[in-house]
Amino acid sequence: MTTATPSRPAATPATSAQRLDLYVGIHKALRHFMTDTLHRIGRMDANDADDRRRTLAQFESLMDLCEQHVHHENDFVHAAIEARQPRGAARTADDHVEHIAHIAALRDEARSLEQAEPSARASMALRLYRHLALFVADNFQHMNVEETQNNAALWANYRDDELMALHHRIVSSLPPEENLMVMRWMIPASTPAERAGTRGMRAGAPAEAFAAVIDAVRPHLDDHAWDRLARALGIPQQPGLCHFG
Ligand SMILES: [Fe+2]
Repeated sequence: MTTATPSRPAATPATSAQRLDLYVGIHKALRHFMTDTLHRIGRMDANDADDRRRTLAQFESLMDLCEQHVHHENDFVHAAIEARQPRGAARTADDHVEHIAHIAALRDEARSLEQAEPSARASMALRLYRHLALFVADNFQHMNVEETQNNAALWANYRDDELMALHHRIVSSLPPEENLMVMRWMIPASTPAERAGTRGMRAGAPAEAFAAVIDAVRPHLDDHAWDRLARALGIPQQPGLCHFG
């Protein structure tokens, strides 16, 4: 597992901000989703049926997104690296095999918790919390390798217009529900400038799909952040209303 990897992070090249970074947005989404879910499991009352149901539903959504993310990286990003630099994605491809197994083990733990006797639930919830924390730690190490070493391989072998075309192929392969889930976690975790970059999504998506994204995101932005995003996207300001026609 990548948890055995020395924790010293790889340095990010100073020029990285000048190149198109395929990882930055989705990885901000995943870090946000992972840490929020970890906190929720940590504070869950495992014997409160409603709290347990809502928390484990978010946990399952996180596992779904992590699993889908691994497949997208394998199918698109690793494939692109390997096409021009054989074995260039070997390290993170091996990590992905471990991540899929780790996700299956965590799902089993969550199902066992759901079916457990009341007296066993608190200790099983604590075990799930600790094991999810290890998964998150492992993924944080892994994502840094992707953002440094894999990005270096992509930047050495592809022009930015080629990377942008790859980005569009990935995004257009996502089912609407997955895209909505990514946006719900990515936009609140992004800088104002990155959020304003969703202008392109507004132009390329059906109005209902864009409205669904805005409705999902608005509750997770404070008024200042929402005001900046609404102005950047040209959304009329209507206090108390998230939806727009
Ligand atoms: Fe990955």
